[in-house]
Amino acid sequence: MNVTYDFSGKTALIIGGTSGIGRATSLAFAQAGANVFVAGIGAAEGASLKEEIARTTKVGVEFSEVDVRRDAEVKALVERAAARFGRIDIAFNNAGIPGKTALVHELDEADFDQIVDVNLKGIFLGLKYQVPHMLAHGGGAIVNTSSLFGVMGFATTAVYCASKWGVIGLTNSVALEVAKKNIRVNAIAPGSVMTPLLTNMFGSEQGAKDTVIPLIPMGRISDPKEIAQLVLFLSSDAASFITGQAVVIDGGGFVANA
Ligand SMILES: NC(=O)c1ccc[n+]([C@@H]2O[C@H](COP(=O)([O-])OP(=O)(O)OC[C@H]3O[C@@H](n4cnc5c(N)ncnc54)[C@H](O)[C@@H]3O)[C@@H](O)[C@H]2O)c1
Repeated sequence: MNVTYDFSGKTALIIGGTSGIGRATSLAFAQAGANVFVAGIGAAEGASLKEEIARTTKVGVEFSEVDVRRDAEVKALVERAAARFGRIDIAFNNAGIPGKTALVHELDEADFDQIVDVNLKGIFLGLKYQVPHMLAHGGGAIVNTSSLFGVMGFATTAVYCASKWGVIGLTNSVALEVAKKNIRVNAIAPGSVMTPLLTNMFGSEQGAKDTVIPLIPMGRISDPKEIAQLVLFLSSDAASFITGQAVVIDGGGFVANA
């Protein structure tokens, strides 16, 4: 059962929206009446999502390819989204990669840089350009994607975990910076969600199931639509007193394994 939200007249910028959690969240925002500006890697995926939203809803929708590692691209994206829809009310900074799954001494500097550049610097750049926009327009809500691996460690994903712990540090601190400015900043910390990222991390869908299901009390991997519902809640007025939080959504994995 999905809770329904009404985001009519609002605009959501979803960075890392072309697949998995971001795609499900883009669709959910559009179904809830928000105009959506989707960004990420993958022109074909972006075009197909844009087509699906345009065909199934009445909201405005745009897609731009952006690499969150590049300051100028993120700056231009925020400007483009603001110009297209007048203002950005909601930003979902969701771009992320698993990187190489290996022991720490098997990783090299390039592996570290790649993961941290996308998963942590990418969120920093999003915040850097979204916050001034929201300050100038009277407020907004920002949701950053961390992970269950942002609140616990997991062997063979040390740098991924470090990047996701960093996302929570950014979230907490920026939330304090804007707490009196009608801008809320929260993070989501999903456990395992069946997306291309998870199957890449564990080699295949079956590999992911074999590795993680034994760690999840609810005995299943979540659907991206369940994560989208949390993003919509945190972005909505129903969450008006929630800021600086990292909300774990993991079928009980954290309390069972931390
Ligand atoms: N799937 C899971 O189990 C899980 C669990 C916890 C957290 N997460 C996090 O959720 C987020 C979404 O992941 P997903 O599972 O939906 O994976 P996904 O691979 O389906 O989606 C990743 C998204 O990030 C975008 N992206 C990747 N590199 C980018 C870059 N350099 N610039 C711009 N966009 C880029 C992709 O275009 C895509 O839209 C990630 O931050 C991931 O770390 C996923």
